[in-house]
Amino acid sequence: MSRFRNKAAIVTGAASGIGLATAERLAAEGASVLLTDLSEQAGSEAACRLGATARFRAHDAASESDWESVVADCVNEFGRLDVLVNNAGVAFLAGQLPPEDLTLEEWNRVNAVNAAGVMLGCKHAIRTMKATGGGAIVNIASVAATVASPLAVPYGASKAAVVQLTKTVAFDCARRGYEIRCNAVLPGTIETTLYKTFSEEQRAANARSVPVGRLGTPEDVAIAVAFLASDDARYITGAQLAVDGGLSAVNPMRADDG
Ligand SMILES: NC(=O)c1ccc[n+]([C@@H]2O[C@H](COP(=O)([O-])OP(=O)(O)OC[C@H]3O[C@@H](n4cnc5c(N)ncnc54)[C@H](O)[C@@H]3O)[C@@H](O)[C@H]2O)c1
Repeated sequence: MSRFRNKAAIVTGAASGIGLATAERLAAEGASVLLTDLSEQAGSEAACRLGATARFRAHDAASESDWESVVADCVNEFGRLDVLVNNAGVAFLAGQLPPEDLTLEEWNRVNAVNAAGVMLGCKHAIRTMKATGGGAIVNIASVAATVASPLAVPYGASKAAVVQLTKTVAFDCARRGYEIRCNAVLPGTIETTLYKTFSEEQRAANARSVPVGRLGTPEDVAIAVAFLASDDARYITGAQLAVDGGLSAVNPMRADDG
């Protein structure tokens, strides 16, 4: 497939996990890809592996000046911006805390990356895409956007913000005639470095609860992201697509029914 031939994409948090798999997928389908991440060495190595049509930029997704530079770099390097994948995210910074022990600092730091970072990416991508005929934005949320996560309160709240923002961006771009689609992917439990911050007990419980009987891989998510970013999804905007092996479709009270 070459759904992204002559197209340029930015993927944030692309040094590892879901972002890396997404950058690889888009590149394999013909896209020029600007990988961004805080992690310079892993990001540079990943871009080198992807070949001549990939570049890496150090980028803090929570910084507006970094966003201005990254979007300008993409246009300078590739002449356009067609796809933005807002993937960079953090689960915890101060560890797993119940609501009564949360600090404002932890709340603000997680939300700065996961929620404000996505808002900034949408803002600067819209400004560029609307001038060049449109594009597609895919925001990586989480099933934690829709269910309680008592030990990851800022994370769940930040991902709920991403889902709401996605719908608002989709609606506003559509009503202004910008030809920019915006959708959210809600991964379940995916085996990446971020997931490894969970305890062994949580990981075992998560694996048992997935209806299809396995945890997800970064590639499972990347395939869905590429679909939403492609013209195959031309009539899909404002959607939230769970990529979770059926996890969010199950009523936990009935999970053991024969
Ligand atoms: N792994 C899961 O089970 C899971 C489930 C649901 C949602 N997600 C979401 O998927 C996305 C990717 O996570 P992952 O599992 O691949 O984790 P990961 O840790 O492998 O990758 C996250 C990447 O984001 C980068 N990053 C962190 N803060 C950043 C910042 N401020 N600016 C730029 N880059 C930054 C990290 O350096 C890292 O390379 C995240 O948004 C995460 O919340 C993951």
